Amino acid sequence: MNNKLVSAKMAGIGAYVPETILTNAYFEKIVDTSDEWIVTRTGIKTRHVVGNSGEVTSEMSIKASRQALADADMSAEELDMIIIGTVTPDMKTPSTACFVQKALGAKNAAVMDVNAACVGYIYALTTARAYILAGMARKVLVVGCETLTSITNYKDRGTCILFGDGAGASVLQRVDEPGVGVLATHLAANGDFTDLLCVRLGGSRNPLTPENINDDGRYLYMNGSEVFKHAVRFMQNAAEKVIADAGVKPEDISLFIPHQANIRIIDSLAKRLSIPEEKLFVNIQNYGNTSSASIPIAMVEAKQQGRLKAGDLVLLVSFGGGLVWGAALVRF
Ligand code: ACO
Repeated sequence: MNNKLVSAKMAGIGAYVPETILTNAYFEKIVDTSDEWIVTRTGIKTRHVVGNSGEVTSEMSIKASRQALADADMSAEELDMIIIGTVTPDMKTPSTACFVQKALGAKNAAVMDVNAACVGYIYALTTARAYILAGMARKVLVVGCETLTSITNYKDRGTCILFGDGAGASVLQRVDEPGVGVLATHLAANGDFTDLLCVRLGGSRNPLTPENINDDGRYLYMNGSEVFKHAVRFMQNAAEKVIADAGVKPEDISLFIPHQANIRIIDSLAKRLSIPEEKLFVNIQNYGNTSSASIPIAMVEAKQQGRLKAGDLVLLVSFGGGLVWGAALVRF
């Protein structure tokens, strides 16, 4: 981005997870698995799910967004734009962002959803920053929110143990000073891998019909071990790019918040990037993989724990179905 005098500042953050918790013991009852397998292979102990609460993606987004707006000391009417990263929208159309706009009373905001799987938050953040640096928006609400349990196959032990629901939100604000907020971003994709992680049914390629409505294709399919193979290398590449673009040194990073998909992926990535344990944020044990919500939820938790303070340089990195991947470097 060329306007060096303008920055997209992270003005406020918020998060929400539903109350219901599923433990590994629950999965031991419904599929052939064990707490030991889940903890050692993924790092997950519990996940929050909407369960029978009836909550949907927009409602969780609204709760997280209200917190982020309060944190930024901003009213919803000040927003020019709302961008929501999600693969589990309330409906195919209108966008989930429309429901959020109405509930917040953000009547001056243009709205859209972004579908970039687990990288939804970083894609949305990058889009928001681009609008701000281009002078096309001043205040943008950026949300990552998923009701992944709505597309989870609870007969597939390879995936059902992984996913949780939740929302994270942030407000980006134009400030006329250099070097604050989102300093650099990198987005990437490789459509050769569309088959590795997908929901086959329900789109224009394979519409739902009375004949296929009960097929497993309506759920999220994932070839976990193949996705795993690419994840670390792709994320390392994205992280190194934003560090170089921002002109900072890896040792300047105060906190590393990777997408919470698998503890083995996280540990191996941190090692490759030479990020020491005390600078690595991990909460996968409590939430599982919440896709586009995982990074903004982690940002809020890190702040609550005193691990993310004003002035800190934070590295965010993620990957997911597409395959897509990306990173952002943020000065809080
Ligand atoms: N309990 C017990 N055994 C299991 C379970 C389970 N829950 N799940 C799979 N297994 C078995 C498999 O059946 C297989 O058995 P076999 O050897 O007899 O065939 C064995 O464990 C090994 O299976 P793998 O799939 O090779 O296991 P792996 O070590 O790769 O772990 C996992 C699986 C956890 C899914 C891992 O591959 C992973 O995390 N992948 C990346 C997932 C990810 O991050 N996706 C991107 C984001 S998601 C999104 O975009 C929405």
